[in-house]
Amino acid sequence: MLFSLPSLRTPLILALHRISQSSIHTNIMAATTHFKYSPIPPPPTANPTYFAEFGRQVQGFDPSTVSEEQMNEIIDMLYKHSVLLFKNTKLTPKQQFDMTHAFDPKAESYGHGNNKTGKEKASILHPDLKTIPHQPQVQLIGNGQVQGNYEGLESPKLKHPHFSTFHGKPLSPEDEAANATRFYRWHIDAALYALSPPKVTTLYAVKVPQGQPQRCLYDDGTGDEIEVPLGGTAFVSGKTMFDILSPEMKSLAVRTKIQYAPHPYVWMSPAHAMPTGLGIESEGKELPLEELPEWEESKVKVYPMCWKNPVTGALHIQVHPCGAHQLHIDPLPEGASKEGALYPDGAHITDLAEVRKLLYSIQRPGIAPELVYAQDWEDGDLVVFHNRGVLHSVTGTLKDSEIRQFHQCNLAASDDPTGPTEEDVKVYVQA
Ligand SMILES: [Fe+2]
Repeated sequence: MLFSLPSLRTPLILALHRISQSSIHTNIMAATTHFKYSPIPPPPTANPTYFAEFGRQVQGFDPSTVSEEQMNEIIDMLYKHSVLLFKNTKLTPKQQFDMTHAFDPKAESYGHGNNKTGKEKASILHPDLKTIPHQPQVQLIGNGQVQGNYEGLESPKLKHPHFSTFHGKPLSPEDEAANATRFYRWHIDAALYALSPPKVTTLYAVKVPQGQPQRCLYDDGTGDEIEVPLGGTAFVSGKTMFDILSPEMKSLAVRTKIQYAPHPYVWMSPAHAMPTGLGIESEGKELPLEELPEWEESKVKVYPMCWKNPVTGALHIQVHPCGAHQLHIDPLPEGASKEGALYPDGAHITDLAEVRKLLYSIQRPGIAPELVYAQDWEDGDLVVFHNRGVLHSVTGTLKDSEIRQFHQCNLAASDDPTGPTEEDVKVYVQA
């Protein structure tokens, strides 16, 4: 019933898309009157310069009566502002699915698929998700034992992901005693094999534990840390991650594609993450490809490092560093100066340690404390985020008694993200 952006697969559809996009703009310029929008105040540690366009709180939205025109406005605003926050909402799993579906009406199934069997159960995501039986695209996530029947699930027991189960290095005893936390895993919500990355994720907070904020440590020798609300979800902008790069790194970023491992969450399951949660330690612990669940080459995903925003045209660095397996770097286009350029003749990097080192050097600046927004959840909050434009991470340490119930929905997309155009590349390689 709701409007969507068309697929970009063929020139004809591309043309229709352009028409549709321009009509959206006309529409939206006149139509940002359905709801009230206000900036989401960035945390005190954030540099406001980078948050002028990031995040909007929406007032006046009622999921039970939303019209197509209203939803068009929400879609447009999400692509412009990356994160939308709706306070005091009441949202059924069906309404949440409908809202998520409106961003990609041809998408139907959950972002990671719903049928994990046999060897796929080794996926590191498997224990964190409880599928709501009557709306299988919506997952119950959180912490603690929910009493009684909940949306068709009998007394579901939830476990808030904790970095100690994923990171290689533990906290120091002093930080442990002081109840510090870390970013669990910076990521995009995406299967990264066979299925295409969801366009948006909706996160609805049914029940949020109250408690003191925690110090979130980077523990990478920089001394970086920020304060996060208890169980806060941290976001960074992929656009800012791109914008703050040096010209040499931008030239590299627009020429690079990431090849992901087959079944990446199974592949990485024996491995450990770095203390920043921004990728895996190179210790050779990943499962050999022949030990993975059955896989085929044609389903392996290769994505540009920069994804183009379908409304603003901006480039966002969107890389799930944990699943990255190889890099393909295009040579500089003809006529571009090679002076100072990185990998001017292109490269195919298969050494995992080198892949990760390069990705880390591109992504780590983008998670600096001044660039992180952590959502301070309250019961009834709904956050919609542009999953192809931001990275996010769980934070926090919850006790068993701290009950957290969230509904999460995202849909394996009907198309793949698009990268920089030839024109974009020309802008960022030095002529
Ligand atoms: Fe996520």
